Amino acid sequence: MKSFYVTTPIYYVNDVPHIGHAYTTIAADVLARYHRQLGEEVFFLTGTDEHGSPAARAAERRGVTPQEHVDEMVVKFQELVRQVDASNDFFIRTTDAEHCRRVQEFIQRLYDQGDIYLKSYRGLYCSSCEAFYQEKDLDDGKCPDHGTEPELVEEENYFFRLSRYADRLERHYREHPDFVLQQSRYNEALSFIGGGLEDISISRATLKWGVPVPWDPEQVVYVWVDALLNYITALGYAGEEDLTGRFWPADYHLMGKDILKFHAVIWPAMLLAAGMELPRHLFVHGYLLMGGRKMSKTRGNVLDPFAVMEKYGVDAFRFYCFREVTFGQDGVVSLNGFETRYNSELANELGNLLSRVVAMIRKYREGVIPAPGGDSSLAGAAAELSRVVEEKMSVVDLSGCLEAIWGFVRSLNRHVEASAPWKLAREEERAGELDQVLYELAEGLRICAVYLHPFIPRTSVEILRRLGLEGQDGDLSIDGAAWGGLAPGGSVSDGDVLFAKLD
Ligand code: MSP
Repeated sequence: MKSFYVTTPIYYVNDVPHIGHAYTTIAADVLARYHRQLGEEVFFLTGTDEHGSPAARAAERRGVTPQEHVDEMVVKFQELVRQVDASNDFFIRTTDAEHCRRVQEFIQRLYDQGDIYLKSYRGLYCSSCEAFYQEKDLDDGKCPDHGTEPELVEEENYFFRLSRYADRLERHYREHPDFVLQQSRYNEALSFIGGGLEDISISRATLKWGVPVPWDPEQVVYVWVDALLNYITALGYAGEEDLTGRFWPADYHLMGKDILKFHAVIWPAMLLAAGMELPRHLFVHGYLLMGGRKMSKTRGNVLDPFAVMEKYGVDAFRFYCFREVTFGQDGVVSLNGFETRYNSELANELGNLLSRVVAMIRKYREGVIPAPGGDSSLAGAAAELSRVVEEKMSVVDLSGCLEAIWGFVRSLNRHVEASAPWKLAREEERAGELDQVLYELAEGLRICAVYLHPFIPRTSVEILRRLGLEGQDGDLSIDGAAWGGLAPGGSVSDGDVLFAKLD
């Protein structure tokens, strides 16, 4: 069986989760669910990045130990994962003893083979990014991402011979033009390497909150090295047996553009040093913007995903994330835009369509899905949809995929209007035509439900239930979405309005 491994970044726990965290988690969930529908064996990993100075400082401010702080905060992130209906197979915490042990083993190996050495270092450090900056990369002396002044740090650190891997890394990029998606991000990633690579500090002497360097416990492992390793350590202990052989290399690491450099340079170089295969793809998405700026904890302009889901429901939230903003690019989100799409698309175009179709089958055919009389004009559109969904999902164009599905939802709405079943129902001799239209609408909805499943899983299962299907694995398979898969004779059932209209 083909395997599929997708990851989200692991989230910092210095503050509460926000919509940006929900966004990547849902994106990964969409991919994971889709690949399960293809019948693949899927491993979907998410989790939390709990070491490093922001977490340590947050704990200090609150007068608790770092461990107490992260134990408290992680609950909110696990809650977010649950509330967005993420179907993750494991939730890793970098404070897991199993993870820490594997991080130590990994860097010990690099140390033993001469890839790590001691050197004293002076540099400008932004502790929110957990990264060193060169003067020229600062905005007016401030961190371009956080708007705060980096501190001058001078310490004796362990360095990883990143420079040793520049050529091999560049070759990997040349040989794998789809290593980083999309093209502009690939170019950006390649440009990081093109300028040559300097060795990087991979330990901190002044920080206590981290994984101790095994041969020098006075230092802790740099939080990014610790964090990146989660993608392989998790496979070692998430299941009863070691899953590394089955799932590594990862198919997709999803991430926002701010953390591309770590994933595009440091991570693959670490893997090359360890003689491991590189992930197949890094997919970089943009930022959700509110009021024109990236939402960030440091800036305080965050939209609380819990409040949004509470008010609109989880599926509406998931839908909006990939409907409003082209996946891969930045895009503005707003409550206004949210409500507009909710009403016009979810409530009217989808919810209303389902209630009308179910109501007509009840009214005209006693709730039983009739047999179609012949070929359908919608079959071609369904076949085209199937082709487009496959094409878009194969390049992680989640919003393009959703757009195509929505085109099909709209064609069903047009079909209701054009065929006017209520008129056909008044003419006895057109009963065959009415059977045909009712079947087509039910079948069209079933197909929508299958393709919509990765995006709005609860709604998808509910649509199938109304059409007399269980919404079990078989009903959800992508292969089963081919036109004509709906067996006539099933009974439709009633239910609450899918999306109650907002005032
Ligand atoms: N802990 C690191 C990742 C380590 S992965 C080995 C980290 N954590 S984070 O919590 O700050 O960010 C996690 C992800 O959320 C990043 O991919 C980031 O781009 C994304 N987002 C944060 N704010 C965002 C938006 N406003 N919009 C979309 N995504 C955003 O970085």
